[in-house]
Amino acid sequence: MKERLKEIEIQALSEIDAASTRQALEVIRAKYLSRKGVLSRLYKELGSVDEQDRPAIGQGINRLKAIFEQDIAQRLHELSAKTGPAESEAFDITMPGIYPDIGKKHPITKTIDDICGVFSRMGFAIIEGPEIETEFNNFEALNIPLDHPSRDTFDTFYLDTENFETDPQKRRLLRSHTSPVQIRYMQKHKPPFSIAVPGKVFRPDATDASHSFMFHQIEGLVVGDGINFANLKWALFEFARQYFGESTKARFRPHFFPFTEPSAEVDVSCIICQGQGCRVCSQSGWLEILGAGMVDPNVFKEVNIDAEKYSGFAFGMGVERIAMLKYGIDDIRLFYENDLRFLRQF
Ligand code: PHE
Repeated sequence: MKERLKEIEIQALSEIDAASTRQALEVIRAKYLSRKGVLSRLYKELGSVDEQDRPAIGQGINRLKAIFEQDIAQRLHELSAKTGPAESEAFDITMPGIYPDIGKKHPITKTIDDICGVFSRMGFAIIEGPEIETEFNNFEALNIPLDHPSRDTFDTFYLDTENFETDPQKRRLLRSHTSPVQIRYMQKHKPPFSIAVPGKVFRPDATDASHSFMFHQIEGLVVGDGINFANLKWALFEFARQYFGESTKARFRPHFFPFTEPSAEVDVSCIICQGQGCRVCSQSGWLEILGAGMVDPNVFKEVNIDAEKYSGFAFGMGVERIAMLKYGIDDIRLFYENDLRFLRQF
C-alpha cells in the first residue's frame, strides 16, 4: 500500500505539472480528489489494511490530498499568470476590435463648408450674424414694405409676443433670411468688401419633403467701385462650375426682390440629367438654386453708403436645396432626423 501511495504521488504530480490548461487541471482534480476519485477509493480500502499500518497509511493519504490540493492551486496560479483569466473569458486576439465612433461633419455643415470654400477662394470673407434679428434689419432696411406678404405676423416667428413691441428697431424675430447681415455689415464697414454669410433662417412653413420651418442659407454681398452685373454673373457662373462640375451651365431669369434691382433667379443645368430633362428638374433641364441682383440704392441709403459712388451685387441660396441636388436627396426632413444610417453616407 505504501508503494502504491508513492506511485500515485509521482503519477499525480507529473500530471499536474504537465497540465497546460485550466480544463486539464480540472480533469486531474476530479480524477484524484473527487468523491469517486483515486484518494476516495484509497480511504475506502483503509478498512482492509492491517490494523497497525492503518494510521500511517491514513496519514499518507491525507498527506497526498493536501499535496495535490496545494499543487493544483499552485499550477492554476501559474497558468492564470501565463494565459490570463479563464479561457471562457479570455481575450481572443482574432476578434474584430471595437471601432471608436469618430464621427464626421453633418451633410449640411459639409455643404456650407464646400460652398463657402469656393467663395473664400474667390476672395470673399466668411461672416456670420445673429439668428434673432430686429424686424427693422430683416425687413425695413432691406426695402421690404409693410404690406409685403412675408411680413405677416403669422408668416414670421416674432419674439416678445407678450409685450408686443411696436418699434421695428426693437421688435425681435427669428430672421427669415440671411440678408439682414448685409445691413449689419454695411453699417460697420466701408466698401470695398465681399462677404459670404452662412446661417440658419426660420419660416413658419408646414413641414413636408421640401419645406422646413428652419433651414440654412448662404448670402453673398460684394460692394465696391464699379461693381456691375457682369461681375455678378461671373461669380455665380464660376461658383456653379466649381461646386457642381466643369460642364455645369447657369442661366439668369428676371425676378423681383425688394432689396435688389435688377433682380434675377439663377438656375443651373440639371446635374442629374445634364440638362436632358428628368423627374428632378420636371423635364425642364434646369434647377433653380438662388436669388440675386444688384443692391438696391434704397438699401445703400439705409446704411449711409453713397449709391452714386458705389455699387454692388447680392445673392442668397438655400443650403438644403443645393445639398439635395448635389447628393440626390429627395426629402429635406432626412437632414434633421439624426438617423445615422443616412448621416454615415456623407
Ligand atoms: N433673401 C432672399 C430670399 O431669402 C434671397 C436673396 C438674397 C435674393 C440676396 C437676392 C439677393 O429669398
